[in-house]
Formats: sequence, C-alpha cells, structure tokens
Amino acid sequence: MSEEIVNEKEELIDPIAQSPGYDETESFVGIWGHPLHAMSVAFPVALTFCNFGADFLYWWSGELFWARAAIWAAGTAFLFGLAAGATGTAELLMVPGIRIRAPAWTHFVIAVLLLSLLGLNWGYRLQGYEAAVLPYGILMSGFNVLVVMVTGWHGGKLVFDYRLGTSKGS
Ligand code: HEM
Repeated sequence: MSEEIVNEKEELIDPIAQSPGYDETESFVGIWGHPLHAMSVAFPVALTFCNFGADFLYWWSGELFWARAAIWAAGTAFLFGLAAGATGTAELLMVPGIRIRAPAWTHFVIAVLLLSLLGLNWGYRLQGYEAAVLPYGILMSGFNVLVVMVTGWHGGKLVFDYRLGTSKGS
C-alpha cells in the first residue's frame, strides 16, 4: 500500500515546471548583475512610512510644516513607486522563469493596487495639502502603510522562497 502511494507521487508532473526557461530566474534589470528592483523599492517603502509619520505629527502638533512634509512624502512615494514598478515589470516580462510563476503575477497585482492608492493619496492632497490631512489624508496614508508592508513582504517571498531575481553564481 505505502509503495503504491510513493509510486503515485513519483508520477506527478507539474506542467509549469516542464516549461522551457523555468529555471531561468536570474535578474535581468540590474547594474553589473545587481538587481535594480531590489535597490529601488526601498524608496517608496520608506516614503510611505514617512507620509504617515508626517500626517501623525501634523495631527499631534498642528504645525503646517508637517502637512507640507506629508504632501512631499506622498508625491515622492508615488513617483519612486512608479520607478520601482517599471523595473519590476521589466523583470517580470523579460525573465522566463519569473514570467511563468503565478506568485510573480500576484505580486504585480498587489503592487499595482499599491501604486493606485499612492497616486490617489497624492492627488487628493494637491487640492489643498493642509485641509487634506484630517481625516482622509491620514486614513489613506495609514492604509498605504499596511498595503506597502504586504507588497514588500510578498516581494521578499519571491526572492527568499522562489529565488527569483537572484544570481546563480559565476
Ligand atoms: C508594479 C510592478 C511590480 C512588479 C512586476 C514587481 C516584480 C517583482 C519581482 C519579479 C521580484 C523578484 C525579485 C526580482 O526579480 O527583482 C520582486 C521583488 C520585490 N518587490 Fe516587486 N514588483 C513590482 C512593484 C513593487 C513595488 C511597488 C514594491 C514596493 C514598494 C515592491 C517590493 C518588492 C520587494 C521588497 C521585493 C524583494 C526584493 C529583495 O528582497 O531583493 N515591488 N518584485
């Protein structure tokens, strides 16, 4: 009985793993092999946190300075996010072993949701950056912190669990 189960397991074939290029997962978009996406994601992640921090300090102190800091953080989080998204998308489309894996597309969907939220948050503040903070600005920046954490965590899974965008050594 147990032998039958072992045989059944051996016969299971994952059609995705049979695709040509399945094992080609090395980073394509980089500087001397150092992946640009990993380098660029730090900026939108940090700026999204800064945006929430500045909103919170405006709420706490009432200082106009923090509302201005918040709109700058919101805008740069969005623009650096677009740049990071461009490097990630190039990696996704050009590397066969990344393109074939479903988790890479899941990361793309989460990241596009994040970029839409970052854009909405910045656009809303352009109507009047001080009035925008309370309550909707801080609610949006707080939510964006949660979404950026999920995006970054999931991107890390692609690298650490699936070894996407890593080097196989020389
Ligand atoms: C919009 C399209 C995006 C695509 C298609 C994409 C795709 C990828 C891919 C394929 C990887 C695996 C590593 C590599 O090949 O470089 C990755 C890693 C990662 N992504 Fe994205 N990404 C996108 C946007 C974002 C954004 C907006 C963020 C966060 C702000 C983000 C955060 C991360 C992180 C933290 C990693 C792990 C990096 C590491 O540990 O080296 N990604 N992404």
